[in-house]
Amino acid sequence: MTDGTVPFTDLAAMAREVWPSIESDYLACLLGGGYIGGAAVTSFEREWASYCGTRHAVGVASGTDALQLTLTALGIGPGDEVVVPANTFIATAAAVVRAGATPRFADVSEDSLLMTPRTLTEAITPRTRAVIVVHLFGQVPDMAGLQAVADDHGIAVIEDAAQAHGAEWGGRRAGSFGEAACFSFYPGKNLGAFGDAGAVVTSRADLADQVRTLANHGRSRGAAHYEHERVGTNSRLDALQAIVLSAKLARLDAWTDRRIALASRYRALLRSTDLRLTGTAPSARHVYHLFVVRVAARDSVRAGLACRGIETGVHYPVPCHLQPPLRRFAHGPLPVAEQAGRELLSLPMFPHLTEDQVGLVCEAVADTLRETAARGELVDVR
Ligand SMILES: Cc1ncc(COP(=O)(O)O)c(C=O)c1O
Repeated sequence: MTDGTVPFTDLAAMAREVWPSIESDYLACLLGGGYIGGAAVTSFEREWASYCGTRHAVGVASGTDALQLTLTALGIGPGDEVVVPANTFIATAAAVVRAGATPRFADVSEDSLLMTPRTLTEAITPRTRAVIVVHLFGQVPDMAGLQAVADDHGIAVIEDAAQAHGAEWGGRRAGSFGEAACFSFYPGKNLGAFGDAGAVVTSRADLADQVRTLANHGRSRGAAHYEHERVGTNSRLDALQAIVLSAKLARLDAWTDRRIALASRYRALLRSTDLRLTGTAPSARHVYHLFVVRVAARDSVRAGLACRGIETGVHYPVPCHLQPPLRRFAHGPLPVAEQAGRELLSLPMFPHLTEDQVGLVCEAVADTLRETAARGELVDVR
């Protein structure tokens, strides 16, 4: 784009890049009529498990279903508590409620905005069965520390890796740490389908089988069409989406490298402004699903950027424990998550963003901050 406006993301650019390599398979599947399951799904599941460093991947219909099916497959339900960070997309906590269990909210690090061993410990009670660790914005938190706390209390670790395809901690890929990890392939994710899709990855064959059974109307592998082992649901990955995902997976590392390069450009250009940058750990490979900064007077700054043609997002303005349908699960204030909700601002970030566009965003940020401060509004949160 050359008119000075910068979109928040550009999903069509990714579709245009990938289309020539999938056109014939996509049309063959479309016109061949094999839409559910089949070779394309099996082959993507293999590729995705191998990419994540796990033995199994089960394609499902969404990241939300991946979370709920994992909890149910682990036998977590009524009477059980599951710790989740307060600042995440509502699906993390909603999946716990839909599984019949109770979410218990943890606060997060002031620096990285991720769950820490301390905030996890504070949230655990005798009824806690699991923790869902969210790799928010594309960064995996201190998994060794979190796993140690989970081991001490005998609770399962589940990863919500919906925003962290290809992220690493200590050289290990997101998805390979917990009993199971849940991915979303919603179109806007780093690996996104042409619609809703998701997956559960795990190295436990029994868990993979249970998720597959639950996601396919309770039919166990090899069962006849109307033979149902348990009450399940319909949450399968479509063949057309699997074709798209395999092709995009071949580009994921290049697209991630691009996101990382753009993030370091942002960091260099924004260092001397009053924006607060989100902290990154040296042992983490942050894949920048989102490039998130913090600023006081966030809504004024956002409006100023919109006037200059810069699209931004807010992830997320209201932490889960303050969302109306989840307030009944709240246990007192969680100050870091609540403060962050007032300050967070996501700047444009996608692989086809150009360095020039990052420059335009940063110039607009500097002008907007000056203008906002000149009106007497506080912008500095550091
Ligand atoms: C952290 C997180 N968890 C879960 C989800 C749910 O994924 P989906 O939209 O595929 O259901 C999302 C995606 O929106 C997410 O960002």
